[in-house]
Amino acid sequence: MASKTSPFLFSIFFFLLGLHSCAGQTANVKAVYWFPDSEFPVSSINSTLFTHIFCAFADLNNTTYQVTISSANAAKFKNFTQTVQQKNPNVKTLLSIGGGRADKDAFASMASQASRRKSFIDSSINLARSNNFHGLDLDWEYPDTATKYANFGTLLSEWRTAIANEARISGETTLLLTAAVFRSSNYYSLSYPVRSVSDNLDWINVMSYDFYGPGWSPNFTAPPAALYSGASGQVNGDAGIRDWIQSGVAARKIVLGLPFYGYAWRLVNSNNRGLFAPANGSAISGDGSIGYGQIRNFISQNKATTVYNGTVVTDYAYSGTTWIGYDDTQSVSTKVSYAKGKGLLGYFAWHVGADSNWVLSQTASRTWGA
Ligand SMILES: *[C@@H]1O[C@H](CO)[C@@H](O)[C@H](O)[C@H]1NC(C)=O
Ligand SMILES: *[C@@H]1O[C@H](CO)[C@@H](O)[C@H](O)[C@H]1NC(C)=O
Ligand SMILES: *[C@@H]1O[C@H](CO)[C@@H](O)[C@H](O)[C@H]1NC(C)=O
Ligand SMILES: *[C@@H]1O[C@H](CO)[C@@H](O)[C@H](O)[C@H]1NC(C)=O
Ligand SMILES: *[C@@H]1O[C@H](CO)[C@@H](O)[C@H](O)[C@H]1NC(C)=O
Ligand SMILES: *[C@@H]1O[C@H](CO)[C@@H](O)[C@H](O)[C@H]1NC(C)=O
Ligand SMILES: *[C@@H]1O[C@H](CO)[C@@H](O)[C@H](O)[C@H]1NC(C)=O
Repeated sequence: MASKTSPFLFSIFFFLLGLHSCAGQTANVKAVYWFPDSEFPVSSINSTLFTHIFCAFADLNNTTYQVTISSANAAKFKNFTQTVQQKNPNVKTLLSIGGGRADKDAFASMASQASRRKSFIDSSINLARSNNFHGLDLDWEYPDTATKYANFGTLLSEWRTAIANEARISGETTLLLTAAVFRSSNYYSLSYPVRSVSDNLDWINVMSYDFYGPGWSPNFTAPPAALYSGASGQVNGDAGIRDWIQSGVAARKIVLGLPFYGYAWRLVNSNNRGLFAPANGSAISGDGSIGYGQIRNFISQNKATTVYNGTVVTDYAYSGTTWIGYDDTQSVSTKVSYAKGKGLLGYFAWHVGADSNWVLSQTASRTWGA
């Protein structure tokens, strides 16, 4: 009898799950960012490995406060959704606005006045619809005064209202609204407006990486994106995720960031090559950043030694005086298991073009499960 009823119960379960998804709840997030300067062709993205793909970045005009797509990116962005849906018709796309290189003063002045916020919000919605995106993502790195955090909260609440109104009027599926945020809800003693974040965003992409790099920590090697602390004061991902949850953002609105890149340091002494060994600035590139695919090439070309440290959850590789801290498959699978175990909504990676033959994307997807 059980064997006859269970398929029926399963169908009911999946039917209800389907209804639930239609109601605007996202079941889980396996996401990645793509950006044009990576020169990775959109048509090469293996979108079967993702539920959501972020197209980065749209820009903020600092006089009109409208969101725009540069003419260099216009054709690629307009085609983005159609192209990634060829391999996975269910994948959702979001247009990401801002980014680490954007002018953060422009975001601050936009958010400071109602009429400017309205220009920003209305133009963002028009741009998302006219370019066939399913949602919008704000990447303002970072508000740096209490007033800017308050304005950030106001912006999110007005944006949510506008997005709900637009869906009601157009009859289209409501646009998703997300933000990429700092590793912790506390930005150097300034708090994110967590109530507004919770009420108005579908989820946050927590940037749980860039903790250490030779550009700002030149004198010792360090895990760039460790999950846990191995020593007092070591910046780590878990502490930040716990801050977000303790401050009142539901785990189901939190998406954990994974770096598909690492940082290379120059060792002072090639025989002293562990974590926190003496270093003298960057190796390989100006700021030491290096994509996972290039790290794999470095390892095979130099027969580099690789180490996984499961206490802090990082990988590193060294050869001669070059030392690279990064996330390989064990770090990625441990972090994705952590995200799942904490009841988070999912994970995202920066960025898709840095992966090597889909190794990290597949590890993450397989670890998370269906
Ligand atoms: C894309 O990922 C799927 C799932 O892991 C895999 O079966 C497929 O071979 C990948 N496609 C390419 C072109 O690598
Ligand atoms: C902002 O928009 C105005 C009006 O369209 C335009 O003249 C100006 O060049 C834009 N500014 C930038 C920095 O693109
Ligand atoms: C606006 O942006 C342009 C182009 O990036 C820049 O040259 C200009 O200084 C900015 N204006 C203000 C007021 O920040
Ligand atoms: C847009 O997509 C179509 C089909 O997917 C493709 O043939 C065309 O080259 C793309 N255009 C650009 C500018 O990417
Ligand atoms: C790194 O070491 C140099 C030389 O000893 C020192 O001048 C500098 O302040 C140190 N940098 C940091 C970020 O501690
Ligand atoms: C991992 O790193 C921590 C922190 O630096 C260190 O205390 C520990 O000994 C390392 N574990 C291994 C197995 O090397
Ligand atoms: C690297 O070493 C040089 C020469 O030994 C020294 O002058 C410089 O301050 C060091 N830089 C860093 C970032 O430690």
